Amino acid sequence: MKIFLDTAELEEIKLAASWGIIDGVTTNPSLIKKAVLKRGGRISMEDYIKEILKTTPGPVSLEVIALDAEGMIEEAKLLYDNFSPYGEVVVKIPINPSLDNERNIFDGLKAIRELSKLGIPINATLIMSPEQALLAAKAGATYASPFAGRIDDYIRDSLGMKRGQDYMKGDYFDFNLMRRLSEDNLMKVIRSREGSSIAQLYLDEKVTSAARLGNDEGIYSGVDLVAKILKIYRNYGYKTKVIASSMRNARQVREVAELGVDIATVPFYVLKQMITHYKTLEGIRAFTADVVPPYKKMFEELKK
Ligand code: E4P
Repeated sequence: MKIFLDTAELEEIKLAASWGIIDGVTTNPSLIKKAVLKRGGRISMEDYIKEILKTTPGPVSLEVIALDAEGMIEEAKLLYDNFSPYGEVVVKIPINPSLDNERNIFDGLKAIRELSKLGIPINATLIMSPEQALLAAKAGATYASPFAGRIDDYIRDSLGMKRGQDYMKGDYFDFNLMRRLSEDNLMKVIRSREGSSIAQLYLDEKVTSAARLGNDEGIYSGVDLVAKILKIYRNYGYKTKVIASSMRNARQVREVAELGVDIATVPFYVLKQMITHYKTLEGIRAFTADVVPPYKKMFEELKK
């Protein structure tokens, strides 16, 4: 599995690249905003992006900001032509750039199709459903980025839980427990309607709304979203690579790795979680304390 770093912070990219374990970088306008604010707004964006490209050992996803096909295509060409001399540019196009769910809902697909035909590698971003991922693959996207963490947020939020209060951004979402709780709740509602026929239960508003809890149109978690996209791509042999995105903790990365996802893009703090374990720390402390003088001396002798 490839690991991309999900950041626009140059220092993080430099560090992770020096450890030799990252294969690319993904940015988005919010990550760019963070990097710009950190520098008090004093930044030459062009030079900064060139630096990111030169530092990254692999593709760097850069997102367009236009919301119509024509504008996205123009910006994508500008990004690709101007920055390709400095590294491997991938252009991020939102799968559906509409701000009102009415106009331009297909403009992302239109741009993906046209740019892919020109040979510009596209990362279809903001993918929240397998259906969107299917369309991205049909349009010829090189990469598709399902936002796993945001789906976990959505499922928890729709149950009335509040991020920052009931759960933190980096908390693991126990979707197995949530599924059991939702099923149990549904059974309770069904049991309370004793004597109803199957048809009556199927049409019962209380039953149907209980069935909708704990999932988003049959998607039970961000990891489940990634699993379903991989299944669809494998069914039809689509070449589009899946980048598990919006990764919030190490366990989530493990779960998408178990699915055989092509790439996971992870924030720096998740990378740190992946390398740490309490027992490893305890072990290294014990081994260090147990070093006896003859063993230490042997190394000194060997160095001579
Ligand atoms: C993906 O490419 C996005 O940049 C990113 O993973 C979004 O993560 P977030 O939901 O934690 O902001």
